[in-house]
Amino acid sequence: MIIRYAAPLRGELAVPGDKSISHRSIMLGALAEGRTEVSHFLTGADCLSTISCFRQMGIDISVDGTRVEVLGKGLHGLSEPSDVLDAGNSGTTVRLMSGILAGQPFASAITGDDSIQKRPMKRIIEPLTQMQASVVSLRDNGCVPLSIRGGRLCGIHYVSPVASAQVKSCVLLAGLYADGPVSVTEPVVSRNHSELMLRYFGADVVSEGTTVSVRPQPLLTGQKVQVPGDISSAAYFIAAALLVPGSEVLLRNVGINPTRDGMLRICAAMGADITLLNRDDSGAEPCADLLVRSSSLKGTVIGGDIIPTLIDELPVLAVLGAFAEGTTVIRDAAELKVKESDRIAVMIENLRRIGCDVEPADDGMIIHGGRPLHGAVIDSKKDHRVAMSFAVAALACDGEMEIADGDCVRISYPQFYEDLRQLCR
Ligand code: S3P
Repeated sequence: MIIRYAAPLRGELAVPGDKSISHRSIMLGALAEGRTEVSHFLTGADCLSTISCFRQMGIDISVDGTRVEVLGKGLHGLSEPSDVLDAGNSGTTVRLMSGILAGQPFASAITGDDSIQKRPMKRIIEPLTQMQASVVSLRDNGCVPLSIRGGRLCGIHYVSPVASAQVKSCVLLAGLYADGPVSVTEPVVSRNHSELMLRYFGADVVSEGTTVSVRPQPLLTGQKVQVPGDISSAAYFIAAALLVPGSEVLLRNVGINPTRDGMLRICAAMGADITLLNRDDSGAEPCADLLVRSSSLKGTVIGGDIIPTLIDELPVLAVLGAFAEGTTVIRDAAELKVKESDRIAVMIENLRRIGCDVEPADDGMIIHGGRPLHGAVIDSKKDHRVAMSFAVAALACDGEMEIADGDCVRISYPQFYEDLRQLCR
């Protein structure tokens, strides 16, 4: 993919549905009694992997554009898959599904692509094993393929060493099948979409500080789910509009759940001109329109409890840091190393290719911003968030940017380049 500056970004855009919420709508829809109707579903490759896993377990799911209908069979209605489940590139699919599979009275196996085969799964093997499931990493390396045999699970209070919504959600979903209450305490609160949606479908879920508890064996009932626009996808247009002089963009109906909105707070600290309009708190997930105007940015420090609320936006925030005046520090973000790629190493390598002065740290990076940057050949490592971050950088660089394996954006945003082109006309 080759990208170069064309014109300031102007106009309106409704970004695709939230990836985390789309996954969960299929999972809870499948485990609920009756029909779940989802609108503005994200049809990116990751969410399609979740759909195909549930189809393999006998759930009828129809997709019509961004409308999805799931005919749930209840907590105990899944059937044994005849083959290994394939999660593709999706960490959310593997980790959340493993919690569900641990509660089934049949054996199953789950795997995925080369990237997912390197990502850490001990973080879910550990709590599921404590709940009496048998979860085995078949290559004995703490990664997929996993073989899962469960059924009778016991209640636990799990203290997670990482702030991870995938770990928390895995344990809560397994908790639906336990013989007693299950709770999870995390070091810092991570995104709470599972808690909100479980409650919406009828489960008894209580959140207190950094601890969430679920009571076992609820009756989940199919619902209508309206998926808000994904703030993690909006992030690229926010960044592009801030960086390219003369830009003004209205991003419609973006999810602004406080466990996801850290980027907006960091952008404000950097001097960004972003206005929230038409705030809507009537549904389970708050949303708003975001009016973004180009701004001159200054460096900032990104670390501490805000990190889980912007973990997927750190690559594009690093790009903002590269163009901002002064120094931007990213810290407390060692989790970046175990995403779809090692996002500390990959961002540093590619930022250097465009001429940025950046130093690595164990848990982040230090970016000395503000010097003119130039186009280069970017190795995305097939990581969708890296590819989209450098597509944004291209608009503020001299010359053209070539993004290797740029089609990896299909993971979370299949029409990303078309939407970017349309705003830059
Ligand atoms: C997600 C949680 C986060 C995030 C990922 C989606 C989710 O991962 O990075 O893109 O839907 O629960 P971790 O739980 O590993 O932090």
